[in-house]
Parts: sequence; structure tokens; C-alpha cells
Amino acid sequence: MLAGRKILLIITGGIAAFKAIDLMRMIKKAGGDVQPILTKSALEFVTPLTAGTVAGNPALSELFDLGREAEINHIELVRDADLIVVVPATGDFMAKMAHGFADDLASTAILARDKHVIVAPSMNVRMWEAAPTQRNFQTLVDDGMSFVGPDKGEMACGEFGLGRLAEPDVIFAAIKDYFFTFGENLPLKGKRVLVTSGATREPLDPVRFLTNASSGKQGTAIASALRAAGADVEFITGAADVPPPDGVNVTQITTAQDMYDAVHEALPCDVAIFCAAVSDWRPKAVGDKKIKKNGDGTAPSLEMVLNPDILHSVAQLEPDQRPQLVIGFAAETNDVVKHAEAKLVRKGCDWLLANDVSAGSGTFGGDHNSIIFFDGQGHQEWAQMSKAEVGQKLTNQITSYLKQPD
Ligand SMILES: Cc1cc2nc3c(=O)[nH]c(=O)nc-3n(C[C@H](O)[C@H](O)[C@H](O)COP(=O)(O)O)c2cc1C
Repeated sequence: MLAGRKILLIITGGIAAFKAIDLMRMIKKAGGDVQPILTKSALEFVTPLTAGTVAGNPALSELFDLGREAEINHIELVRDADLIVVVPATGDFMAKMAHGFADDLASTAILARDKHVIVAPSMNVRMWEAAPTQRNFQTLVDDGMSFVGPDKGEMACGEFGLGRLAEPDVIFAAIKDYFFTFGENLPLKGKRVLVTSGATREPLDPVRFLTNASSGKQGTAIASALRAAGADVEFITGAADVPPPDGVNVTQITTAQDMYDAVHEALPCDVAIFCAAVSDWRPKAVGDKKIKKNGDGTAPSLEMVLNPDILHSVAQLEPDQRPQLVIGFAAETNDVVKHAEAKLVRKGCDWLLANDVSAGSGTFGGDHNSIIFFDGQGHQEWAQMSKAEVGQKLTNQITSYLKQPD
């Protein structure tokens, strides 16, 4: 997700400095490169050994390090980076940034910057509310820096109020958002993609419903890969075991009819992917009270009616309203190819991804999937891979398709 992105991470001398280490781990895990710079005070809170080991790059601190200045020029350090992040930012360091001080490596890098800066302040509530800090905050916003936090809560000193460092995952989300918003070469930038995911629930009465075993993991992985490729993702989800990915527009629904309405409301879009496990039918009558056993002790019988066919309804739209690419999923337990080929024709979609969800396949709820991909010309068996890899592979196919001349 952050592959190839270089982040200059400035750690200053606040009590929350250790949280910068968690942030570094997240950036590294997402494929980003981190160059840590520690102020002299930060060295009191985290060791350069920890910071350097987690980052995989030596933690720098001294402006005048003759050995290194030859190798790492402090200006080049900034030119090399794609983004500068200050975590935590002390009241002191905010003052230095606002006034252009450059008496150590961290502040010199800030003054020499030609990159965007994200600042995550952390300090005692009185320090944060102090008039000079508020003036500095305003100056830094006017200078174009963006801020994450501070949050309100209990402080290390026992006081309560605004000043706590934003959680590392929130700072991480702001970093990813920066690259999504300003990343110029993302292949799906400007494309609007709708993804449905999860399981619908059809109520029988106020306490019971019909559903299925979809975990939402595949739809979530697809939405996440599309977002990482720069798409604006409309994510319409039923019940799921995993949270929606960051950075997508989420609509939570319950029934198939809700999903139908949400999908049609979210149109138009360039690509629509129907990965949700939608109930084909629902109980004809929904009791407003809990259904009881029959008087003679027998079970009540259920009468079902058909739900609207969402995939078909979108695939059949007039050309000026129809997404350029309509992609369906088929969950089959037997004769996967035969059923999937018939479904592609019946629904009128462009591509279909069929997966075997029979008992023992491990597809429902698992982290892997075995896909057979149909594009109307024929089919291709994809090797078993993780759901994240399926998301990436599908995103790549979509990107290549949209690149083709009309
Ligand atoms: C134990 C301790 C904790 C501190 N925590 C913070 C803090 O959370 N935020 C802050 O702005 N300053 C804090 N300070 C004060 C800064 O360390 C001090 O202002 C220092 O000069 C900051 O230097 P720097 O901005 O160059 O890193 C703390 C000081 C001590 C001794």
C-alpha cells in the first residue's frame, strides 16, 4: 500500500515518543520506507537503536555528524522523502517550526522542506491551550501543514483534556490518505467503483433472520486493493466479520432490498463488483411479534418470495447508465464451471468470478480463495491465493481493461 513511499519521521521529546515506534511498524508493514530523525530530547524517551532497528534505517540525530554529513546531506534527506511526519510534536518543536528555527537536524530538515508535513502534537493540556502554542498551531496550518489530533483524554501527568497524541493507527490512516489524495500515478485515480460485500439478513420476525456464512473478507480485500490503486470506492456491505477498509465510502445495509436500493442510489459508477452473498428470497410475511409454535406443537411453515436481482438489474441498465464493467461473483457448491457460465449469460454481466464454497473448501470465512474467472470469451483457473491477492489480481485486470482504447 505504501510501497516505494519514503517517509521522514521526526520524533521529538514527548512522553508519547514510544508510540512513534508503533507507527513505524505500520508504515514498514505496508511497504513504506522510514527514515527516523530524533531530537536530542527524543533520545531521552526512545533509543536510536530501537528506532533504527524498527525503521531498518539508522536513526539520525546530530546536525554536525562529520562522518555522516559526507554520506547523508541534511538537505538531501528532505529531497529524498515523499512526506514528512512529526510524531509526537512537542510544544517546543511546534514553536521552532512556526518560527523557522534550525538549530538541530530535525528543525533544519523542516526549514529546508519541499514536502508536505503531517504533525501529530502531544503535550499537557495547558501547554496545548497556551496562547503561544495556539498561535503556532495557526501559523503552521497557514503554512500548509496538516494536523492529526491532539485527542482529548487522560494525560501521563494525570490531568485531563486536549493534548493526547492521536492513536498511531489514526496517524497511519492520515499518511495513507495523503498518498491517495496526492498520489499522481495511481492507476484508478478518478474512477468510481462500487463494491458490494458481506451477507444480507432477511428477517422472519423481530428476533430471527435468514442469512448465509459470508464473512465479507473477499469484498473487503477487493475494496481495499481498489482504494490503494486510487479508486473512489462505494462500499455497500451487509453483515461481515471484518471492518470495512479505510478510505472507502461505507453504506451499511441489512436486507437484499436495502442493498438493491443502496446500489441504485450509488450509481453511476465506472465499475460495479457484486461480491456480497445476497439472499435470493425472503419470508413473504415478517411477523411483528416473535413467531410461536403452532397450537398443535408443529413448526410453522415459511412462504418465500423472490428478492430483486441486483446484479441483473445493473447489468441490464441502458448503456448511458450502465457501468462500463459489471462484475459478478458466483458461489457454487457443485458443477462450478457449468453453473457459472450459465449465470454469466443469464445476468448479462461482463465478468464473473466463481468460487467453490462447498463444505471443506474453506472459502466462506477463510483467508484464501480459488477463483475461476469468466470474461465471456472463456474461463481461466486462478491458483489458490489469499483473498488479498485475489483483490490485487482483480484490480490489475480492471486497470488493464480500463486502459484499453474504446
Ligand atoms: C518526562 C518528560 C516528559 C515530557 N513530555 C512532553 C510532552 O509530552 N510534550 C511536550 O511538548 N513536551 C514534553 N516535555 C518537555 C520537552 O521534552 C521539552 O520541551 C524539550 O525541550 C523538547 O525538545 P524537542 O522539541 O527538541 O524534542 C517533557 C519533558 C519531560 C522531562
